[in-house]
Amino acid sequence: MPLALIPTPTHLEECEGAPFRFGPGTRLIAPPELDGVAGFVWAVLGPLATVTRDDGAADAVVLRPDGGTGEAYTLTVDADRVVVAGSPAGIARGVATLAQVSGLGTEGAPSGVVPALVIRDEPRYERRGLMVDVVRHFYPVSTLERVIDLLAAYKLNVLHLHLTDDQGWRIEVPGRPELVERSGRTQCGDGEAGWLRTEEYTRLVEYAAARHIEVVPELDVPGHVNAALHADGSLSPSGQPTEAYTGADVGFSKLDLSLPATAPFLADVLGHLADLTPGRYLHIGGDEVHRMPRDEYLGFLDHVSGAVAATGKSLIAWQEAAAAGLPSDALVQLWDSNADPAPVVAAAQRGIGVVLSPGKHVYLDMKYDADHPLGQDWAGTVDVRQSYEWDPDTYLPELPATAVRGVEAAIWTEFIATEDELFSMLLPRLVAIAELAWSPQRSRSWESFAPRLAAHAPLWTAAGVAFHESEQVWGRGRPDVAVA
Ligand code: ACM
Repeated sequence: MPLALIPTPTHLEECEGAPFRFGPGTRLIAPPELDGVAGFVWAVLGPLATVTRDDGAADAVVLRPDGGTGEAYTLTVDADRVVVAGSPAGIARGVATLAQVSGLGTEGAPSGVVPALVIRDEPRYERRGLMVDVVRHFYPVSTLERVIDLLAAYKLNVLHLHLTDDQGWRIEVPGRPELVERSGRTQCGDGEAGWLRTEEYTRLVEYAAARHIEVVPELDVPGHVNAALHADGSLSPSGQPTEAYTGADVGFSKLDLSLPATAPFLADVLGHLADLTPGRYLHIGGDEVHRMPRDEYLGFLDHVSGAVAATGKSLIAWQEAAAAGLPSDALVQLWDSNADPAPVVAAAQRGIGVVLSPGKHVYLDMKYDADHPLGQDWAGTVDVRQSYEWDPDTYLPELPATAVRGVEAAIWTEFIATEDELFSMLLPRLVAIAELAWSPQRSRSWESFAPRLAAHAPLWTAAGVAFHESEQVWGRGRPDVAVA
């Protein structure tokens, strides 16, 4: 029976010979520098007795750093041993593969039997992510950890958190308690939200780091700022706090760099996010600033670019910012399938990297179909096949292929309130995007993918997360693909 691996690996050779069987005596051999990854192994394979030195004995899962960088890995399985070799990040990706080859029985129950095989695998794109809007509706750390588990299982490596917007402010900032005290509890509609305390954000970043996932925090400026203006009147030209906002409109709020409070506010928030975040990037938003003259917008972005550089980080911004004089280490994130992409192409021709998040393929707040009860449809309906069947290298034919640094799915949460609603929009589309971003274009096809995807549903059920039974995947009855 074929293996239902997702993402499909670059190279897979199933070997003759007996399989490896996990048993009560199976040990994990992991050198000390892989402590973080060992925790991830226990989380996905169950607790294994762990030693740091390889004595060569059988009945072992061996994590073997090979001095490499990046996320390539080799997984070798025979009757005696399972060996995962690569850089620490590569080993984390290999462990995700091992979890799939050992965890998917025909009924989705862990079989503990791994067929003899050799997998050599590496990602297509260096950045493979998901943005979660924790403002329009707030999700606690426990939900975000389940999201990280999902990213890790499918080899995604970026969690972008949209932390600030008109409706709420979700991150504690030292010396500015009013941001969360006055704007932390509001969200879209009338529910009570919340925010990430410093220690919670730090715990989340560490949880992600153990899985070699980078957290990218977003401070969305100069628009999408009503929560800040409601918390601190000195950020408004009137000197008075604005009204709280719990609707779903966009484009009406802005920061004003001519006010004396604005630059210190930006420096404090960006400085704090940089201090708490080990990854290279801060996201500064830049989208949908509908009430600011172009020169003022470009000047604002110049200022923010400098403020990010002062923290030692690089910046990412939504595609509107492509028109600004961004530094060469910046990335722009394309999202609006209806907008003219020429400024993004021009920025790419100047050497700026591009992350592709085209709404019509990867905005997972779009409805699956016209009758779907959740989500929006301004970028069209996005069923699983629509998420899967596109090629990032040719999406914008004018874009130099080397400019494409990755793919990031996004879920905006104006109309997505609960954890079940969130996961039912992520699953199964995020898994389609994970394969798109990892596997070579030539190895992918919908006909191969759909039955493999269906075979993963028991894993999601076992993890206690909701998914949408898209007719595109499940409509023709239970597929007969299962795993060794
Ligand atoms: C966006 O969807 N406003 C980036």
